[in-house]
Amino acid sequence: IRLQLGAGPLAGRHVLVTSGPTHEPIDPVRYIANRSSGAQGTAIAAALRDLGARVTFVTGPAEVAPPAGVQVVAVETARQMLDAVRAALPADAAVFAAAVADWRVANAAGHKMKKDGSGILPALEFAENPDILATVSQLTEGRPPLVVGFAAETDDVLRHATEKRARKGCDWIVANDVSPATGIMGGRENAVTIIDAHGAESWPRMDKTEVATRLAARIATALDAKGQ
Ligand code: CTP
Ligand code: CA
Repeated sequence: IRLQLGAGPLAGRHVLVTSGPTHEPIDPVRYIANRSSGAQGTAIAAALRDLGARVTFVTGPAEVAPPAGVQVVAVETARQMLDAVRAALPADAAVFAAAVADWRVANAAGHKMKKDGSGILPALEFAENPDILATVSQLTEGRPPLVVGFAAETDDVLRHATEKRARKGCDWIVANDVSPATGIMGGRENAVTIIDAHGAESWPRMDKTEVATRLAARIATALDAKGQ
């Protein structure tokens, strides 16, 4: 095997990837989170690295270990993830694969909440987290030339994903159907549709690493076409 530094179609490019869930504390020992192993984001970061990109990998507490050869920034909450993403810019492309918790607990306790025997249950109040993908997509200064979001949906996948792309202002949305019958959630495989300004392109069901390889190649092609 010949390893050539600085080679590959993404050599000289900086790509930012978010991955994994975020954890939003309830108290020091409890949290709320989305289901996410971090497998798809990790595979994407590795595939971008393999094409020669310098990769900043901003990850929540994932099950899967981060890939070697990327700059890992470990965060816990959505707000920490946004700060880390801002700090990692500028980038030539940004891929938002994280399953960010939409809400955080506004009345999180600084101490462990105890059952006090009174039968009174804790009441959690929620606050909406910042939308990291939308924030970066709508930057007027320093927006990455290519911004890619994900949309995991359980019904009306194409319609929801197309609307999501428009609402957030990203360039591509990688949509997938995660309804229980597909068995996609938590599995090794994924079946995605890429939605861009021109329309929708559906890929057959394949290993998450293969989805990552194809997506990285598509990113390289798009950046080349931009000629920047
Ligand atoms: N995302 C993000 N920050 C958030 C929420 C979502 O960056 N606070 C990103 C995800 O990483 C993903 C995309 O936005 O790339 C879509 O996430 P999704 O949860 O499907 O979208 P939402 O706008 O949160 O809509 P929904 O009500 O369907 O959850
Ligand atoms: Ca969400």
